[in-house]
This record gives sequence, structure tokens and C-alpha cells, in this order.
Amino acid sequence: MTEDLSPGDRAKRAAARRACDFVEDGMTLGLGTGSTAAWLVRHLGERVAHEGLRIRGVPTSRRTAELAREVGIEIVTLDEVPRLDLTIDGADEFDGALNLIKGGGGALLREKIVASASDRMIVIADASKEVARLGAFPLPVEVVPFGRHSTRRLVEECVSALDLPGDNVTLRMDGDVPFLTDEGNHILDLHLGQIGDPRPLARALGEIAGVVEHGLFLDLCDTVVMGHPDERVELREGGSGPKGRRRSVRRGRDNIFSDLDE
Ligand code: 5RP
Repeated sequence: MTEDLSPGDRAKRAAARRACDFVEDGMTLGLGTGSTAAWLVRHLGERVAHEGLRIRGVPTSRRTAELAREVGIEIVTLDEVPRLDLTIDGADEFDGALNLIKGGGGALLREKIVASASDRMIVIADASKEVARLGAFPLPVEVVPFGRHSTRRLVEECVSALDLPGDNVTLRMDGDVPFLTDEGNHILDLHLGQIGDPRPLARALGEIAGVVEHGLFLDLCDTVVMGHPDERVELREGGSGPKGRRRSVRRGRDNIFSDLDE
């Protein structure tokens, strides 16, 4: 089977297989979306079948749900299990601070909700996803269909105001029609080239009416498991460990609840 795989797929599979080691009996997992996450789901299915591993999974997309069912993983919803032990998902880019761009597969909204509900997030990726600065991969922004032209104009203005190229925003298409997410929304892809500081951009996008979510995942990822085509795997750990990172976010200046502390 290894012979039939492209180097990229070998790297993705190696990362997914190594990430399986973090999964313990009894865990409830967030299951990511994309080709790397699909390897993970298949490996977990093998562990369920051969080792009797007992896990439950919250899928981040319909296609992940379908695959998980196929391989015998018990599916639950976030309404049934509001807190998850671990989410394992792919990414389109990650930087040295383990900040991510996600949403290439169009599942960013559910992916961010699921990652935010998890005690720990592990990203699985091939080495091509590691970047010095985020932004070469177009940043996906999920928008509701209502008023999408005016939302797009506001997104372009917001991007220009931050001295990023605002004239390069495209509506994601699925053939001749706009792509629809699992939540029935559209996606704008922002071709920015390089994002200096992702925080002001994340804040500004989050304030635009009509924007449901964006693909900047900041301070959510705890560990990256990076695979290589020769099946070597490297781990990148976030600075202060899962709980520390989250606590420091809550205490930091980006804490959206800071007004309530006083
Ligand atoms: C889907 C995602 C994926 O995790 C991301 O696009 C990476 O995909 P792949 O593993 O196929 O390279 O964010 O919305």
C-alpha cells in the first residue's frame, strides 16, 4: 500500500498514525476534516476493530461523520457531550506559535467550535504546512448568504485598512455555483500573501456582521504532529502546555471577557 501513495500522502498518514498514540480508551474526541484527518479516522477505526478501543467522536463535517460510521467509531453530538478530551484535525498552515489557517476543506466553523470545546487540540500535517508566517494559503472566511455582497465589501475594506491586499477576495465556487458549507453558508477566500500579525485581522473580521467565522485558529492548537514522506514524524509543542496556553489567553489582552472580570 505504501508504494501506491504519493509522498504527501505518506507524510499525512505517518502524522495521523502517530497522533493515534495520544488517544486513550474512554476518550471523547473531536474528529477533524480533510485528507489527513481521514487517515486518522481510518487508523482509529482499526484500533476500535482490533484492540477494542472504546472512543466516541464528534465529527466536524458530514463527510467525516460518514467515514467514522463506516469504520465503526461511535458518533455523538456536541449537545450530548459538550466537553471533549481531545480534538485531532488537519491544517492548511501552521506557524512557529502553532497558530493555524484552516478551512481549505470548508469545515472551519464546526472545526473551530469542536476545537474550542476540547481540552487539547492536536494538529496533524505534512511538513509542507509549516510556515514562517501565515497567509500564503488563502484565508477562508465563512459568511451567511444573506447580504453576502455587502459583507464581502466590508471584508475587503477591513483587509485594506490593515494594509493587506483587500482587492483579492474571491467567493469559493463549487462548479458554477457558490460553495455551500455544512451550515449552508458561503466562503470568501482572502488571498493575502502574508499576514504580519494575525490578531488584529482576526479581531476585525470577527466584528463584521455577516461573517460567521474565519479560518485563523489562534491559541487553540497545543501540539502539531508533522509527518515526512519517509514516514519520520516530528512534534511541535505549544509554549506552556494545553491548560497554560488557554489560561494565558483568558488572562491576556485579547480576553473577550476581560470587562466582566472587573
Ligand atoms: C478543512 C480543513 C483541513 O484540515 C485542511 O484543509 C487540511 O486538509 P488536508 O488534510 O486535506 O490537507 O481545515 O476545513
